[in-house]
Amino acid sequence: MKKLFSALAIAAIALMAAGCCSKTDGGFKKNSEGAIVTPVPARPAGQTDVIGLVTPKLETVRIGIVGLGMRGSGAVTRLSRVPGAKIVAVCDVEADRVEKAQKNLRDREYGEVAGYSGSTEAFKELCERDDIDLVYVCTDWVHHVPVALYAMEHGKNAAIEVPSAYSLEDCWALVNMSEKTRLHCMILENCCYDFFELSTLEMAKQGVFGDIVHVEGSYNHNLDPFWHEYWQNWRLDFNQKHRGDVYPTHGFGPICQVLGIHRGDKLNTLVAMDTKAFNGPKHVRAQGGQDPDNFANGDVTTTMIRTEKGRSILIEHDVMNPRPYSRMYQVVGTDGYAAKYPVQQYCLRREFLNGEPIDYSNLKGERTLMGEALAELQAKYPCPILTEDFVNLAKEVGGHGGMDFIMDYRLVYCLRNGLPLDMDVYDLAEWCSIGELSAISMDNGNAPVVVPDFTRGAWNKLNGFSYAFAPGDGPAAAK
Ligand SMILES: NC(=O)c1ccc[n+]([C@@H]2O[C@H](COP(=O)([O-])OP(=O)(O)OC[C@H]3O[C@@H](n4cnc5c(N)ncnc54)[C@H](O)[C@@H]3O)[C@@H](O)[C@H]2O)c1
Repeated sequence: MKKLFSALAIAAIALMAAGCCSKTDGGFKKNSEGAIVTPVPARPAGQTDVIGLVTPKLETVRIGIVGLGMRGSGAVTRLSRVPGAKIVAVCDVEADRVEKAQKNLRDREYGEVAGYSGSTEAFKELCERDDIDLVYVCTDWVHHVPVALYAMEHGKNAAIEVPSAYSLEDCWALVNMSEKTRLHCMILENCCYDFFELSTLEMAKQGVFGDIVHVEGSYNHNLDPFWHEYWQNWRLDFNQKHRGDVYPTHGFGPICQVLGIHRGDKLNTLVAMDTKAFNGPKHVRAQGGQDPDNFANGDVTTTMIRTEKGRSILIEHDVMNPRPYSRMYQVVGTDGYAAKYPVQQYCLRREFLNGEPIDYSNLKGERTLMGEALAELQAKYPCPILTEDFVNLAKEVGGHGGMDFIMDYRLVYCLRNGLPLDMDVYDLAEWCSIGELSAISMDNGNAPVVVPDFTRGAWNKLNGFSYAFAPGDGPAAAK
């Protein structure tokens, strides 16, 4: 009896020390602070984290692209212009989309590329080829993870459009597969490469804003003109079936880089709230869909997160209402502020500005720098991955003004040089997990929910976000 009691006591102490679950409610376990805890699968024996993962250098990165709709067809054009990249094969369920991509390349004298089509499983043949290094996934959301897992199982690195995964189970599956295979699994979050975000990240890293206190991001984009364009109505169907911030990463990714998430700080607890679905049912009716009154996704979903270092994050999702496009992108620091929408601006303490040769007559509003003064300030903190020639090429090839090309270029550059990628599988999981975690919070009366540590203990190994360069290239000289 005495033995049993001490065993129970030891178990209770061990659970408390692990900050683990002390009570259960509504099927979920809760920690000692009352926050819902979702299961964290144990890391399989022999597997280690992939922080700073590198794979052998590649002279040419041979690519297979899966999904050739609005986004994938643009990726074909862009990737065909990235130095050191070679598109080997393309795949889509629809044969005419494959033929169109092949014609696009043929017309530009790129040469022939293999094509696969005819079913949602046709991608398997592409993944089974032995002359592909990277599978680039641009399908609808439901097919992202099956394609990426199969690609990695067959020895290929994977890059997946946003949001790469929509469930916690899938986030963990991608983390485990990347750790098991030691292959890259990158989220294609292009908004991390827009010019304002790149400049502001560099300024934040150099301390221009002091200690970062709070950040905001959003995806506010009225999709009225687009709903009918998606293959088999997948996007509206998904929103009809799923509550939560189902498209968090454009707003969330860039601000997580500013905070250095799993690079010295980590996401701790989240709470979320949504409105009722005002406009969703109208779209379902307009598309002739079924059961329009049963629409899970609220028009506006707002999520707040607190980090280990005591900083806060606000993210918002609204694809239903007529309002100006905004990814918000706000950075609040102890010494300064940056905002991208609706007008790009920085706000800094006057003491800081006194040391800077800035034309004060350009200051508008409450010590706010916009226009030329903003450009002058940004010029003092050049983003290390941008050179003038590279920026010109990115703008010429395009893709949301050039940011898509910069993302593709960096992915290929890092693979060619055997460097860690700018975004790893933990970024993918952290950013994408917001969808299901926000739904769990709202389904439980806006309860706090613990954001899992997808690194399983390795979140403090790196000190802040940084870009990797090949020896000799160095900052501002990436070729
Ligand atoms: N990063 C960005 O700025 C950005 C912009 C738009 C879309 N996206 C993302 O890109 C992805 C694609 O969006 P879209 O607008 O091109 O959608 P889309 O409906 O135009 O295209 C999806 C394509 O995937 C194909 N497909 C579906 N399942 C497949 C499978 N198993 N195998 C092969 N092909 C398959 C479909 O036939 C279709 O051609 C989505 O994840 C979306 O969120 C990202």
